[in-house]
Amino acid sequence: MTLCPQLRRLSAEHARWLADVAGRAGAGEEDRTSRLLALWDLEVLPHCRAEEEVLIPELARRLSEADAAIVFTLSDHVALRRLARELREARGGARAAARAALEKKLEEHARFEESTLFPAVQEALGCDRIAGLAPDLAAAAEASRPRPTSSAAHAASTAKKGRKP
Ligand SMILES: [Fe+2]
Repeated sequence: MTLCPQLRRLSAEHARWLADVAGRAGAGEEDRTSRLLALWDLEVLPHCRAEEEVLIPELARRLSEADAAIVFTLSDHVALRRLARELREARGGARAAARAALEKKLEEHARFEESTLFPAVQEALGCDRIAGLAPDLAAAAEASRPRPTSSAAHAASTAKKGRKP
């Protein structure tokens, strides 16, 4: 099945995360872990929240909250959140195992969404309806991104105006 443009955009986000993870394979453990947690905060969690707040409820309107694709997707999101928490708390030798577990789950989750969830969404909603959800998806993801600190925001706004902070 060829996915609608909006679903292809979500798939492209998956591909970008996995490429980012693969690109760090030779880096040191601290670098890999801190980069993965930054990726989680800035991209993966906002992406998951947009799915949870917009895409999944829309799918539930057409199917049922108890549909297997919905239940599996949401439980997979919980598994990702659990693994991210475990990685944040892991110390010493446990960090490499926790980092590898989150990377593995991310890869499995992306594969599941692309092979099962997205085709189900497309079949149930149709490409026009999915295209109409784009602003809500973008707003939900944006609302979930960490806010810059007030000093960082000030520096960014003065830099935009061409002034020194
Ligand atoms: Fe997801």
